[in-house]
Amino acid sequence: MRMRYTIAGLGFLYVTLPTQPYVPWVPTRDHVIDKIFRIAKLGKNDVFYDLGCGDGRVAIEAAKRYGVKSVCIEIRKDLVEKARKRVREEGLEDLVEIIHGNFFEIPLREATVVYMYLLTSVNNMLKPKLKRELRVGTRIITLDFEIPGWSPVHVDGNGTWQGTIYLYVRGVSDIHDQT
Ligand SMILES: C[S@@+](CC[C@H](N)C(=O)[O-])C[C@H]1O[C@@H](n2cnc3c(N)ncnc32)[C@H](O)[C@@H]1O
Repeated sequence: MRMRYTIAGLGFLYVTLPTQPYVPWVPTRDHVIDKIFRIAKLGKNDVFYDLGCGDGRVAIEAAKRYGVKSVCIEIRKDLVEKARKRVREEGLEDLVEIIHGNFFEIPLREATVVYMYLLTSVNNMLKPKLKRELRVGTRIITLDFEIPGWSPVHVDGNGTWQGTIYLYVRGVSDIHDQT
């Protein structure tokens, strides 16, 4: 659900601020990370983005195992610091970029695979950006939460916690979505 708060200003002046529901940090478990890479068919020429990357574990594993360029976008400074520390410890500075920021404001054009472990409502808010910026053919993987109105090309799972992985393809999954 898209929430909006309106702040009435002086007489005719007002601004409307879109707000995003709070998404807590819940790390993806190791065996789920394996499945995500398999379902995404990650290969060395991919550019992997994790929107809301927490401590960077998924992006770091992608770079470590497949040699892909990984971009990790996280709004919480403490998690960004953890992620940067992990990248240094693994010696992956050339492959993994950790961006401290809001994924709604970071360009995604370079991505060939996007991972999102967020909420259905946030996926819904991200749809226009995904549609505008991602190239046709980009794979989008979501964990547990669907992209409403888009048709997954593959669903793996059983509905338990961290048990369902959705694969979408830009230009295929979104063609009937008019929102
Ligand atoms: C469920 S956790 C997933 C963490 C990581 N992707 C993983 O799978 O291990 C969601 C993360 O998104 C971050 N987040 C929420 N809203 C964000 C935003 N607008 N921009 C960047 N990060 C955000 C949260 O701080 C949290 O770390």
